[in-house]
Amino acid sequence: MAGNADVPAHEIVIARTEQEVLQCYDVRIAVFHVEQNFPLETEIDEFDPTATHFLLRLTPSLTPVGTIRGYKAPGGYYKLSRLAVLKDYRSFRFGRELVLALHDWVKADALSAGGDNKFVEIVSHSQLYVKGFYAKFGYQPEGAEFDEDGDPHQKMVLRLPL
Ligand SMILES: CC(C)(COP(=O)(O)OP(=O)(O)OC[C@H]1O[C@@H](n2cnc3c(N)ncnc32)[C@H](O)[C@@H]1OP(=O)(O)O)[C@@H](O)C(=O)NCCC(=O)NCCS
Repeated sequence: MAGNADVPAHEIVIARTEQEVLQCYDVRIAVFHVEQNFPLETEIDEFDPTATHFLLRLTPSLTPVGTIRGYKAPGGYYKLSRLAVLKDYRSFRFGRELVLALHDWVKADALSAGGDNKFVEIVSHSQLYVKGFYAKFGYQPEGAEFDEDGDPHQKMVLRLPL
């Protein structure tokens, strides 16, 4: 784990312009397609046009290095997906910061919808080797492993207090 002094200066923003959204896609393609060999055809999907995309970029250069996306699913839960940090920038806790940024957004979105729910559910389909990463935030495995895009995944669920 890199010490704080080694962590490159950075910021996380919600991608608001087309260019910022495309930068999120570029990070995903570099990680999921080029590095991990997932198909390019399924990388950009039907959820992308309406999802909220977070971009982690270095400052002051604004070089994109990480991303995550979230959206509210029809079942009322939130979906966390497409979490990726470029290989050269791993172990700086960027992945953790992206997940926490997404949690903050989920909380704000759920609270703005009103109601008296005490919890909101967030679901992630985790690659098996990342289950321990999600577990650190309290995500718990639910159900059996399943295939997604040709690779085994595990549904991980977090009940996030509001
Ligand atoms: C998964 C990923 C986003 C983690 O990003 P990262 O910035 O390197 O991770 P962080 O530095 O934020 O790690 C936070 C904590 O999780 C731990 N961790 C990181 N990867 C882990 C893994 N695969 N399994 C278990 N723990 C892990 C770290 O050791 C750290 O622990 P600590 O808080 O006790 O020090 C990154 O490895 C990645 O982009 N992988 C390729 C894409 C991918 O698989 N995405 C997930 C799709 S389901």
